[in-house]
Amino acid sequence: MIETIQWTDAGVVMIDQTRLPREEVYVTCTGYQQVAHAIRSMVIRGAPAIGVAAAMGIALGMQHAESAAEFETICDALARTRPTAVNLFWAIDRMRHRYSELRHQSVADIRRELIAEAQQIRLEDIATNECIGRNGASLIPDGKTVLTHCNAGALATAGFGTALGVIRAAVASGKKIDVFADETRPFLQGARLTIWELQHDHIPATLITDNMAGHFLHSGRIGCVVVGADRIAANGDVANKIGTYSLAVLAKENGVPFYVAAPISTLDVSLRSGDQIPIEQRAASEVTHVHGVPVAPEGATVENPAFDVTPHRYVTAIVTERGVARAPYSESLRKLVS
Ligand code: MRU
Repeated sequence: MIETIQWTDAGVVMIDQTRLPREEVYVTCTGYQQVAHAIRSMVIRGAPAIGVAAAMGIALGMQHAESAAEFETICDALARTRPTAVNLFWAIDRMRHRYSELRHQSVADIRRELIAEAQQIRLEDIATNECIGRNGASLIPDGKTVLTHCNAGALATAGFGTALGVIRAAVASGKKIDVFADETRPFLQGARLTIWELQHDHIPATLITDNMAGHFLHSGRIGCVVVGADRIAANGDVANKIGTYSLAVLAKENGVPFYVAAPISTLDVSLRSGDQIPIEQRAASEVTHVHGVPVAPEGATVENPAFDVTPHRYVTAIVTERGVARAPYSESLRKLVS
């Protein structure tokens, strides 16, 4: 199994996703600020994975904290890393809740229990993804190609993955499928991470550039699209990696089912619609440069929204660990959450 993130005696160890697939190197964070930096710089990325990282960052920070007041400083630093994936805030809230339960215990007990909680969040995430996989596998048409975007795999989670978890479970159930992965400009999570992961598992995978998706969706070869999510509003609107919206529109136009695989912790029912989801804007250099090499003239004006919102009318179903939600999502998602 690919180990995305682990708690060790030396610190929080993460596979460095900025260097994959060229190098398989691990980063050891020994303080919460290092964890925050790893999240911001995308050493670790993907909604569930950054939730686990934040929980471990809090546990790590409290090992060195000199007073209880530092708890909120640590939580705030981790909350300021990336704004879109709600799993980050979900994990911080869970650690806050655990901390309030422990408040009257000894410092040694608090430190030990916060580590245990963060490790538990990691283990639960793997189990959740396996469950999402089981719930989604039957939706995948046998003998066809599955198109996915970005990386919603083991690397984006504590293990197994959400969208890639559904694909893994479909393959394990005996379905003969192959995968098309969009390269996912500008950060190339599809080219660098999804293809690497699928090669690891010997699942047949083909890399395409983002602008080839329409061509293949029209060809009849693609049986369905499966993607992950960073935040899902109460009405079923889905924030995910930039380019997901275009893919969903193309899928509908060509009569191809569009599935979203995500844990319940990705649902944000406090938001009525996707218009309220904060969209992260990232550095222009991600667009103007590829691996440090400029691909645009100096001084080019750039926009770099890291995510877009797919309106719920394009989503065929949302696969969670508690079951599969279909339209009307305001009802089906509310039921799953409660
Ligand atoms: O910017 P990233 O790489 O963190 O974006 C990741 C995605 O958009 C994923 O599709 C999403 O987080 C789901 S991961 C299971």
